Amino acid sequence: MEEMKKGLEGVVALDTKISFIDGIQGILMYRGIKIEELVDLPYDAVSYLLINGKLPDETELSEFSREIKNNRNINGKQIEVLKEFDFGFDALDGLRTAISCTAHFDLENNYHSPDANKNKSIKLVAKFPTIVAALHRASFNQKPIEPNEELSHGANFLYMLTGRIPTELEAEAMEKDLILSAEHELNPSTFALRIAASTLSDIYSAVICGLCTLKGPLHGGARKGVMDMLDEVSSIENVQSYVLGKLERKEKIMGFGHRVYKTLDPRARIYKDVARRLSIENGNSYWFDLAEELEHILFHEFVEVKGKPIYPNVDFYSAVVYKYLDIPAELATSIFAMGRVSGWIAHCMEQYDDNKVIRPRAHFV
Ligand code: ACO
Repeated sequence: MEEMKKGLEGVVALDTKISFIDGIQGILMYRGIKIEELVDLPYDAVSYLLINGKLPDETELSEFSREIKNNRNINGKQIEVLKEFDFGFDALDGLRTAISCTAHFDLENNYHSPDANKNKSIKLVAKFPTIVAALHRASFNQKPIEPNEELSHGANFLYMLTGRIPTELEAEAMEKDLILSAEHELNPSTFALRIAASTLSDIYSAVICGLCTLKGPLHGGARKGVMDMLDEVSSIENVQSYVLGKLERKEKIMGFGHRVYKTLDPRARIYKDVARRLSIENGNSYWFDLAEELEHILFHEFVEVKGKPIYPNVDFYSAVVYKYLDIPAELATSIFAMGRVSGWIAHCMEQYDDNKVIRPRAHFV
């Protein structure tokens, strides 16, 4: 029997054309294009790129965006059903249950033709933001807000959450957030999804596996963890003692460290710039300064003192962006999923196209 690799660390499980990571140089590409080149496009264009393998031309983009906009509405009964449950403070539990309901209301759920899969993909990308916003509002007994046709995917989400049309920079920040969250090779949730797809389970079921795995605090749940940490630190003067206390107690610092990146996560650099610009527009640099102080002190502790390559990951400055967008921490993981769903769909299709059941062995002890 082969040597067991705990956590499958360093194991290559499959070939993919969807994304490429160089964890030493800090490079991330979707379909061969660096994220720095993609981040100024609309989310719809990047979603199309991931799902269809190439960037859309003008006609393809407007057709894709139209299809997304036409599918943003959700079945009214769905929210009524979901209001019966108390999801407490974890919006992801609500989203997971809502996607099960969406599958239930979709007559094509168990059809696997290319057309049915394409329709389901559009519905998933389109409906995620509507569900997240509607469930959040329902938890305060507020009515859902109808999607606004004039707005981009990201801007429309912010609008459906609050009823206020976001500023140009807020809309840009949300679009960039969804793009930077959209895809990341064989991260835990994508791997879980590909295992489900490899059994030829349907797309909704595979996406639900992705959601369940994204939830954990060591993966997508870390974004909420960072937001909670920013609240806990409570002042810039407290950063040093807060960090040293956590390290002494051997607690993980959320938003730092990565299995693949041994340098700064390239997404963190872009998020940091967006957070800085939002802090200027808001006339309030508190969250940005606090995060930068955490970054400086942790660079000293992790890299200079311990010699460990532990840097901010995607969840660190995205949490600061959410603070400026006034997004509640309990929505952070669900919003991550709103972006990631395009990458998940791409991986589902790639798995179906050249399938072999994913079934490793265990070493009996
Ligand atoms: N805080 C404190 N110590 C850390 C951190 C951290 N954030 N990250 C790594 N370390 C330390 C570990 O304690 C360990 O130390 P040791 O060798 O003395 O035992 C060493 O660095 C290696 O860490 P592992 O957790 O074993 O590395 P692994 O590759 O398994 O885990 C992970 C990577 C899960 C991301 C880890 O860095 C972590 O827990 N980070 C915090 C949670 C987080 O931000 N997750 C989001 C990741 S991005 C994403 O999934 C969307």
